[in-house]
Amino acid sequence: MDKKTNLGKSELVVNPIGLGTNAVGGHNIYPNLDEEAGKDVVRTAVEHGMNFLDTAYIYGPERSEELVGEVMKEFKRDDIILATKGAHQFKGEEVVFNNSPDFLKKSVEDSLKRLQTDYIDLFYIHFPDEDTPKDEAVGALKELRDEGKIRSIGVSNFSVDQLKQANKDGYVDVIQSEYNLFKREAEKEMLPYTAQNQISFVPYFPFASGLLAGKYDENTTFDDYRAEHPFFQGEAFKENLAKVDQLRPIAEKNGVGVPHVVLAWYLNQPSIDAVIPGAKRSKQVVDNLKTLEVNLSDDEISQIDRIFS
Ligand SMILES: NC(=O)c1ccc[n+]([C@@H]2O[C@H](COP(=O)([O-])OP(=O)(O)OC[C@H]3O[C@@H](n4cnc5c(N)ncnc54)[C@H](OP(=O)(O)O)[C@@H]3O)[C@@H](O)[C@H]2O)c1
Repeated sequence: MDKKTNLGKSELVVNPIGLGTNAVGGHNIYPNLDEEAGKDVVRTAVEHGMNFLDTAYIYGPERSEELVGEVMKEFKRDDIILATKGAHQFKGEEVVFNNSPDFLKKSVEDSLKRLQTDYIDLFYIHFPDEDTPKDEAVGALKELRDEGKIRSIGVSNFSVDQLKQANKDGYVDVIQSEYNLFKREAEKEMLPYTAQNQISFVPYFPFASGLLAGKYDENTTFDDYRAEHPFFQGEAFKENLAKVDQLRPIAEKNGVGVPHVVLAWYLNQPSIDAVIPGAKRSKQVVDNLKTLEVNLSDDEISQIDRIFS
């Protein structure tokens, strides 16, 4: 598998195995996070050539960006392709999405401060709002790109129609949306559109929050949001585990584990140029890099397709 890949139409070259950092300082997502362990995850990633880091204002909020920024200072800035996201706006207790040009520009300035850097390689509009025309929102990011504050433009959680509007002038480089072997809607319209328009598709929840990492069994219990998630309950959980079990012989034949086969399968999909599995431990970061050793045969790719269709 190629060890480097370009994002969208941009000049950014990343290791296709990136790092999602919502468990680095993401105290509002996971309870009892150890910040030093989180920083070590980021440090280990960069030390091992995993240069594509994915954070967001809302992870923490703010704290993930701050911790990623602290670790980045230990390295050469050029060695890192840093992605962050904005759109969440706190109004008292309520959180709304805001894609207005002014809000996005302010979000970028605030992220730059938290990350202690003078440019962001990839800035995503984290969620669509209801009011702002998407090409206007992206127009604000284009201005920031021309000023050198960001290097490429992303959107996240946009529908295909919203993406088409956002990309009216051809400025969108990357879309990040939920996609994994259990959730494949993107294959219908999204992946064909992104492939035709040179937009990279970065799937989030690549392991379906750990389920596709192949380490859970019927007796596994969870103390976070997964305790309430239908994927991790009763019969559905058992059926999902049975599907994951069918990946084991394929993993064994390739001399790797289930997580690597899963990530390699995504990277065979049109326009999926990079993945950003999350990790809570440095060990997982190093482990995910084994994906680069996997070359699935056409037969194995179809077999996996059938197991999860
Ligand atoms: N744009 C958006 O709206 C959005 C939304 C959600 C996430 N994201 C991004 O996508 C990233 C990935 O999502 P995610 O982290 O929530 O879910 P995920 O990648 O599907 O699952 C991550 C979990 O898988 C387990 N894991 C990772 N590597 C492993 C390995 N090699 N072996 C065994 N288990 C392994 C760990 O779980 P345990 O250690 O807990 O078992 C880890 O916390 C996030 O960090 C974030 O950057 C974006």
